[in-house]
Amino acid sequence: MPNCAQYDKLPSLQPLLFNPCCYTCQDYTWALGKKEIAAVKPELVVFSDRNSRNFQCGLPLSCSYMLNFDNTQMAKRVFSGFRPTGKQHIGNYLGTIQNCVSLQADYDCVYCVVDIHALTTLESTEALQEDVYEMVLDWLAAGIDPQKSIIFVQSHVPQVEELHTLFSMLTPLSWLLRVPTFKEKVKMQPQNVNYGLVGYPVLMTADIALYKGEVVPVGEDQLPHLELAREIVRRFNSLYGFVFPEPQAKLTSFPLVAGLDGVQKMSKSYNNHIEIAASPEEIMTRVRTGFTDPARRYRSDPGHPEACNIFALHKFFTPARVEEIASECRHASIGCVDCKKILARSISSALEPFREKRAVFVAKPNYVTEVLAEGANRAQAIAEETIKEAKEKMKLPRRVNLGDIRE
Ligand code: TYM
Repeated sequence: MPNCAQYDKLPSLQPLLFNPCCYTCQDYTWALGKKEIAAVKPELVVFSDRNSRNFQCGLPLSCSYMLNFDNTQMAKRVFSGFRPTGKQHIGNYLGTIQNCVSLQADYDCVYCVVDIHALTTLESTEALQEDVYEMVLDWLAAGIDPQKSIIFVQSHVPQVEELHTLFSMLTPLSWLLRVPTFKEKVKMQPQNVNYGLVGYPVLMTADIALYKGEVVPVGEDQLPHLELAREIVRRFNSLYGFVFPEPQAKLTSFPLVAGLDGVQKMSKSYNNHIEIAASPEEIMTRVRTGFTDPARRYRSDPGHPEACNIFALHKFFTPARVEEIASECRHASIGCVDCKKILARSISSALEPFREKRAVFVAKPNYVTEVLAEGANRAQAIAEETIKEAKEKMKLPRRVNLGDIRE
C-alpha cells in the first residue's frame, strides 16, 4: 500500500479520496466479487463503499497496490453540530466534546458550527463571528484535531440548505409539532415562533445526512431530534432508494449536566454554567454560587450527595476522592462551602492543560480561520456528491448543458 504522501503524488487520484490511511490490505478480486466496484474502465477503477458513500478512487489498474484493497475496514462517519454559543461550558464538554475527541481515534469525524440553526433564536447576529471563533478555539484546545477531523461552519457549505428543503417535502408537519424542544422554544420566545424553529430538526437531519453520519455524539437533550432524523432518512430511503444510513446517538456517561442553579440543564441561556476556558478565580466564583442538596439547610445536617449537583460534578472532576466526599457529606463532617472549594480546585486543575493549549492557539491569529477554510473545502466535496446522489435517486430532472445538446 502506498502511504499518505505517495497517494498525494498520484496524478490520477480523484479529489474524493478520503483518509486513505484508514484502509488496509485485502484482495482486489475479493472486492470485485462483492460487487463493490461501481465501474471499471481501462485506466480507472471507481469504488463505492458499503454505504454507497461514493468513495471513489481513480487509480491506474497497472498500479501494483491495487492488488491490496480492503473496504471492510472503512471507518464509519461521525457527525456532530454545535450552535455558536461562544466559549463552551462543562455541560458541552462532558456531554459531547469529550466523545467528539475520543471518537477521532476510530472514526472519520465531521464537526460543524451550526450558525444557520442559531438564527432561529438569536436576536442579534453582531457577536456571531466572535462566538464561532471562541467556540472553535475551545474545540481545538479540548483535542478536536483538524488533521483528523473536518471542522467547518454550516453556512459555508450551502448544500445543507438544499437537502433541508428536499427533506422538508417528505416530513409531515405533525412529526415536527410534537418535538419537545419546539414546544419549549414556543414557550421561551412566544414573540418569535419562526418557520425555522419548526424545521429545526429537519435542518439537523440534513446536517447529519449530507455527510452520511452514522454516529452522532450529542447530549441527552438531542435524543428526540435524533429519533426524528432516523424517521426522516428512513422515509427518504423507502420512497427513493437507499442513500442515507440511519444515525445513532452516542452519549457520554454524563449525558445531561445540570446547571449550577440545580434546576435547569447547564446552559449559557440560563447563566448557570462554568466555561471550560474560565480562570481558577472565575471557576471558584461560579462554583460558590452553585445550589447543593436542598434538604441540607444547616452545616450540621447530614447531606444527600445523590441529590446534590455539586457532588455530581465531583464524580467527574474528583474521581479519586468521590467516595470519601460522599461519606463526609452524609455524616456532615464536611460542609457545602468546603465541598465546593474542593470541586473548584479539581475543575481548575483538570482544565489547566486545556487553558495552556488554548493560549497557544490564541497566539496564532489566523489559525482558526485556516482550519475553517480547509474544513469547508473538505466538507463541500462530500456534500456535493451526496446532493447529486439524492437528486438522482429522487429522479429530479437532470440539468443538461447547452453544449451537450448542440453537438
Ligand atoms: P447545542 O448547541 O445546544 O449543544 C451542543 C452539544 O452540547 C450538548 N449539551 C449538553 N450535554 C450535556 N449537558 C448539558 N447541560 C449540555 N448542554 C449542551 C448538546 O446535547 C449538544 O450535543 N441541535 C443541536 C445542534 C445541532 C446538531 C446537528 C447536533 C445541529 N445539527 C447535527 C448533532 C448533529 C444543539 O442545539 O446543540
